[in-house]
Formats: sequence, C-alpha cells, structure tokens
Amino acid sequence: MTSNDYDPTAEGAETDFARRMSYGDYLQLDAILGAQHPLSDAHDEMLFIIQHQTSELWMRLAIHELSAARRAIARDEVSPAMKMLARVSRIFEQLNSAWDVLRTMTPSEYTHFRSKLGQSSGFQSGQYRLIEYLLGNRNHAMLKPHAHDAEVTRLLEAELAAPSLYDEVLRLADRKGLTMPSAVLARDVRETHSLNEGVLQAWRRVYEAPETHWMLYELAEKLVDFEDYFRRWRFNHVTTVERVIGFKRGTGGTGGVSYLKRMLEVELFPELWRVRTIL
Ligand code: HEM
Repeated sequence: MTSNDYDPTAEGAETDFARRMSYGDYLQLDAILGAQHPLSDAHDEMLFIIQHQTSELWMRLAIHELSAARRAIARDEVSPAMKMLARVSRIFEQLNSAWDVLRTMTPSEYTHFRSKLGQSSGFQSGQYRLIEYLLGNRNHAMLKPHAHDAEVTRLLEAELAAPSLYDEVLRLADRKGLTMPSAVLARDVRETHSLNEGVLQAWRRVYEAPETHWMLYELAEKLVDFEDYFRRWRFNHVTTVERVIGFKRGTGGTGGVSYLKRMLEVELFPELWRVRTIL
C-alpha cells in the first residue's frame, strides 16, 4: 500500500467536525492565521510580521512561567519553580535561534517596507516591558509608550508594585537562613535593585559550600542560566539590527544600535554574576 492509498479513517481517525471541536477551533487558528496584514507588496514583510508575532507568543508563555515561578518561590515551592525557570531558558533559546531566520533578510529587502512601519517598534512591546519589570529591570520611563493603552499601563503598574522574581528569591534565601540585609528585604520594589554587598556575601556563602545550601545554589544557577540566554537574546537583536539597518535611528526614535548596546549592560541578578569573581 502506498501512502496515497492509506486511509487513516479505517483505524478510527475522526474526520467529521461539523459538530465537534476541531484542532483549528481549539487553537483559534482563524484568529491567529488571520492576523498577518502586510502594509506593502514587499515579499519579506511577511517574515518580519511572523517573526514578531511568534516572539510575542513565546513572550506570553515566558510571562506565564515566570509569574508562576515567582508565586511558587514565595510559597517555598522551589522544585516546581526551578522546572518553570528551566522552561523559560529553553523559550529564550528558541527565540535566539529564531534570529537566524530573520537574518536571511538583507538591508535592501528591509528598505522595501521599513517606511510602512511608521514610528512602531519592538520598543513599544508591552509584554517585553512586562518581562523586564518582572525580572527587576524597572525603568519607569518605559511606561510612557503605553500611556495610550489603559490595560497595558495597568498591567505594568501592577508589576512595578509587586516584588520582582529576584526579590522573591532573596526573601526565600532569607527564610532559609541566609540572612539577607534588611534594607534589601524592605526596599521599594518599584525601583531597580542594584548590587548590594550584604547580598553578595550571602551568595558567597552558598557558592563556597554548595553541598550545605544545595537548593539555593541550584536556584541561583537557574537564574544565571536564564540571564545568560536573555543576554544572548539582547546580543542577537543588536547584531541583527546592525546587520539590517547599520547605525540608522530606530523606527521607535532611539539612536538604534547605540540604544540597544546600552541595554547590553543591564544586569538582572548582579550579585550572582559578581560572586564568581570573589570565589
Ligand atoms: C530587522 C529586524 C529588527 C530591527 C531592524 C529592529 C530594530 C530595533 C531598534 C532600532 C530598536 C530600538 C528602539 C527603536 O528606536 O526603534 C529595537 C527595540 C526593540 N526590538 Fe527590535 N528590531 C528588529 C527585530 C525585532 C524582533 C524580531 C523583535 C521580537 C519581538 C524585536 C523586539 C524589540 C524589543 C523588545 C525592543 C526594545 C528593547 C529594549 O527596550 O531594551 N525586534 N528594535
């Protein structure tokens, strides 16, 4: 029998979806696959749109996982949190590989539709900003592009009012006997945490004796692993941008590559990087 003759209904495959939920119904594919509307005739605009849309879908899952991990850590449920953090790293690995697809678009191809983007830019991604805020990079100026959207502003403001993922990790470490500085535990969580000597020394104790602090050691390494992937995402982005637009200004109005290079200096979990130097 060739594959042309083979009929899966003979072994029970369902084919009547007049009154049943189908694959497309469940996944709402009409909505998802109906959401690509290029504004030009340029062949590559479809790639550009899908690359951004799929990134936003993965970001949605990353937010789902990171928020759940933070809640789990606050409840001392570290093992499920670690599993979720491992998944988020894999999501970023996926996003990192995706740049290879976008890099097939040359500068000449991009210029065919760039003007159609107007002032729109990933800089205005509410989900991306939510991820940065969730992780503790809390620049309030980044609220401004969302002022026109009450729902996104509400979500970002709520995120600023909550402890970041790292705040919850430091609180957990304190509960587990690591004694974090009280000023850090009681800090204004709306602001970005910066390197603190007491926190650094606390992590030093963990890294000097992993066997006594195995759970915190493992959790810290999960965070480092994730930030490592996130850094690669930032680096891949800026390299792709330089490759495609050189040093032109961004459609969002920043200096472009100069702005993105500055973002490479962001440190989400500063003490976890610094502790390596003092071991
Ligand atoms: C040819 C492709 C791309 C170019 C030329 C490009 C260019 C830029 C530039 C110049 C900026 C700085 C803000 C501005 O002035 O516009 C920016 C920011 C940003 N882009 Fe892209 N980008 C590209 C692809 C992507 C993709 C696929 C994503 C995935 C969602 C993305 C997400 C972002 C985000 C989240 C920011 C804000 C980063 C931050 O504030 O740290 N970009 N992009």
